Parts: sequence; structure tokens; C-alpha cells
Amino acid sequence: AGGTFVPAVVIGTGYGAAVSALRLGEAGVPTLMLEMGQLWNQPGPDGNVYSGMLKPDKRSSWFKTRTEAPLGSFLWLDLANRDIEPYAGVLDRVNFDQMSVYVGRGVGGGSLVNGGMAVTPRRSYFEEVLPRVDAAEMYDRYFPRANKTLRVGNIDKSWFEQTDWYKFARVSREQASKAGLGTTFVPNVYDWDYMRREADGSVPKSALAAEVIYGNNHGKVSLDKSYLASALGTGKVTIETLHEVKTIRQQKDGTYLLTVEQKNVDGKVLASKEITCKHLFLGAGSLGSTELLLRARETGTLPNLNSEIGTGWGPNGNIMTARANHMWNPTGTKQSSIPALGIDDWDNPDAPVFAEIAPMPAGLETWVSLYLAITKNPERGTFVYDKATDRAKLRWTREQNAPAVNAAKSLFDRINKANTTIYRYDLFGKQLKAFADDFCYHPLGGCVLGKATDDYGRVAGYKNLYVTDGALIPGSIGVNPFVTITALAERNIERVIKQDITAS
Ligand code: FDA
Repeated sequence: AGGTFVPAVVIGTGYGAAVSALRLGEAGVPTLMLEMGQLWNQPGPDGNVYSGMLKPDKRSSWFKTRTEAPLGSFLWLDLANRDIEPYAGVLDRVNFDQMSVYVGRGVGGGSLVNGGMAVTPRRSYFEEVLPRVDAAEMYDRYFPRANKTLRVGNIDKSWFEQTDWYKFARVSREQASKAGLGTTFVPNVYDWDYMRREADGSVPKSALAAEVIYGNNHGKVSLDKSYLASALGTGKVTIETLHEVKTIRQQKDGTYLLTVEQKNVDGKVLASKEITCKHLFLGAGSLGSTELLLRARETGTLPNLNSEIGTGWGPNGNIMTARANHMWNPTGTKQSSIPALGIDDWDNPDAPVFAEIAPMPAGLETWVSLYLAITKNPERGTFVYDKATDRAKLRWTREQNAPAVNAAKSLFDRINKANTTIYRYDLFGKQLKAFADDFCYHPLGGCVLGKATDDYGRVAGYKNLYVTDGALIPGSIGVNPFVTITALAERNIERVIKQDITAS
């Protein structure tokens, strides 16, 4: 057996990984977490840990020569992006042929870069998506546990109604209601009290200073402040950063041998390591966990993996779109970067849509109403292993997103009609484009629960090998996914600790 031995290894430090590490640590299992990104706690030359959205620097992006912001243009001009030095920054955009996927890199995974929207899915849809999971148990026990440990909270409604910072959301609500559409408040892990103090000027601004996708310097309770802090607090969990797992092999004695590459922040390889463990948990995210298993199956290091690995992937029906408002309907120069309201038309049988009202924190009046629509798109993509590059490639075509675009369009056509407004065509690149259908924030699937794994994330064909993250969810969950990923991981690890670890 090669290298260092540890009882349990967790790959990644996102939601599924963090839940697993905390519960393993509490159970007394020495656990090593391997994270390819950095620990984000050191201030840069400007005194901040993260660079802002308006003037991003190298800290913003994972080894890019130019930032790749989702809203790439304004009046077709590429104003949002900057040339940068390649660096181990916090946000990655993984560009497949016809779909790009945003993911977080660092201790906390997606929690470092996401909007913090913490939504428990509608129970009926959860049951439709994961019919073999006991929904009663999820809604009575694991969703509440996830919400509590993530520290999910709600905005003070009276503040929402009067603050300038959410005028953009109130304008969109009014316009939706003219089309007969209702809205709902969206809970968040951002500390709403902190945001109110940002507004009254008593603390440094983060959400109110246009910080989000490249990290929040204040206010957001990312995983490093919740699950991972508690995991380290058990005294049983350690985290190695800038360590990327490359290969997984099962040895004759049943243990797993990992090869791991340690890099510096500029991408230079410092060391190649071998680590052996008894229990291995994959929490590298939908893309990361799927790629690791696909590579292992195709190169023969885990030959018994089944043909379901790589299948059932979807972008959670993500479509961004924007509307142009009339001159008499400004959306405000002040916009909190943390969304607080969504248009809820999920019960519409023809085109279920949950559309979050997103800010356009440009610092000037744009008359733009921006949305992230989550739709129900039955299309699925498949990952295939590309030998030449040793990477997973995503088979997904632009046309597969047509059902999602059509659903979003049917909702926003109604809103435009009721308000005599039109779409904005200038925000998503150089061509005329009203719907951003070529990127997503919510990659889901690739190692689907009950198919690539058993009903608790145990990988089919192997003992003591688990998937813990968004790869388990088959492509769609109808709301922003991290609360579901967290709750499912809580359910699975409880069972695994009881049956596979404490008992053995
Ligand atoms: P996650 O992707 O969080 O973590 C995987 C980790 O593994 C990463 O840290 C990665 O660096 C690491 N890793 C990958 N491969 C590795 C390897 N080979 N070796 C070592 N480490 C490796 N969701 C939501 O519910 N509400 C929201 O508001 C938003 N908003 C949002 C905005 C933006 C900009 C993004 C990019 C995403 C969101 N999301 C979101 C989505 C949400 O962040 C996402 O669903 C979860 O982070 C997924 O959690 P996982 O546990 O699956 O992996």
C-alpha cells in the first residue's frame, strides 16, 4: 500500500463534502479533506480577501487570462471582464462544447461564490425527482437539520418594503403581479442583520457593494463558517488545500489509493502524493465526482463501476433573461447583490418556472430587470471520457435547452405583455440574445442516486466508496440546489456511519 494511510478521505469541501466530514468527525473518524482550491482567509494587497465584481482581479478566477462573467456585456460592450494573470482564484467557468458551468474553487466550494439562496424544494417535486427517498423523513428531519446548520434566515419584510436596495425586486414584483403572477421571499445564508447594518453605514459593505460571484468579504455564512468550522472543531478533521485528486484505485486489501497533485497558487506542481484510505467520499461536485469515477472506470482503476456513471446530468433548467423597463420605471442605482424574491409559477402545468429576481448592481441606473429562471427541462446530458485529454467531456447540445428557453419565454412574454415592455438583447454576449441558454450555475447529476449508487450514495460495484454531492441529483430539483444537496448528504451519511463504519 502506497503513501500515507488515513481512515477516511473526503474529496472536495463543498456541501456534500462538508456534511460528510462534520458527521465523520463527530463519530470520531479521523478524516482528511482534499481540496484543489485555496483557503480564503488571507487579505490581499487591498485589505480584502476577495476581489469585487466591478473590478475583478486574479483572485476572481480559476486559472484564466481574462475573467468570464455571466453578464458578459452591456449594450454589447464587454465592460464586465478584465485581463488577469492565471491564478488559483475562487470562481471557475468550465467550458464544455455547448454548455459552460460555473463552479466554486476553494475551501467551501460553491458556497464561496454562490448567491446564498437557500430554498427547500416543493415536496411534491422532490418526490417526483427522487421517488425512492423517504420524503417524510427528509422533510421532518434532514431538511430542518440542513437549514439549521447552514444558518438559513429570512429577510425582514418591513425592511424589504422600504429599503432602496430592494427597489429592483419590488419593481419586478409589481410587474409580475400585473401579469397575474405571484412572488415568494427566498431565504438565504447571508446574514440579513448584517446587511441592514451595511445599509445604515455602520459596517463594511459586501452585498451592498456588489460582491457575490467572486466571493463576499462580509455577511455571507459560507461553509467555512458553518459546517467546515464545526468539522475542524471536532479535532478529527483536517483539510489540505491546493491538493487535486487525480486518480482512484482500489487495492487488493480493499483500501483506496489516491494520487494527488499539490500545486502552488500559480499552478506550479509542488508534489505528487499517494494517499490510502479505507472509506472514500466523493464530494468534488457534479462535474468533479463524475469525472473522477468516469476516469477510473475507463482507465480500469475501478473496473466494476457501472454504465450509469456519467449519465443523468442537467443544468437544473437554468436560463437567465432580462427585460427593459420604461423610463418611468427605474430599478435603482442601489441594488443588493443578494436576491430576496422569486416569481413562483411552478404549479403551471404547461411551463413550470421559478424565476429569481436578480440584481444588476452596476452602480448606475440601467432600467434592467434581470432574472435567473429555474425551469423543468426533461433533457439530460452525458459525460464521456476523452482519452487524449484525460478529461470528462459533456455531451449536451444547445437544442436540448430549448424546452427551458420556451418555458422562461412563456412566463416573461406574459410579463412583457402586461407591462408593454420588451426583452434586453445586449447582456449575454455580442449577438442579439434575450435568453442565456449556454451556461448554468446548478450542475446536477452524473452519478445519480439509485443508479450509479445505491439509495444512500454507496457506489455500485464497490464497498466503502461513496458519492455525497450534487452528482446524486438527477439533473433538476426545481429550486436552487444547495439545501437539497446538504439535506440528502445528511441523510446518507447518517446511514453510512451507522451501518458501514460504527458497525465494522
Ligand atoms: P461544490 O461544487 O460546492 O464543491 C466541490 C468542491 O470540490 C470544490 O471546492 C472543488 O474545488 C473541489 N474539487 C473538485 N474536483 C476536485 C478534485 N479532483 N480534487 C480536489 N478537490 C476537487 N445554489 C443555491 O442553492 N443557491 C444559490 O444562490 C446559488 N447560487 C450560485 C451562484 C453561482 C455563481 C454558482 C457557481 C453556483 C450557485 N449555486 C447556488 C449552486 C451551488 O453553489 C452548488 O449547487 C453547490 O455548491 C454544489 O455543491 P456540491 O457539494 O455538489 O459541490
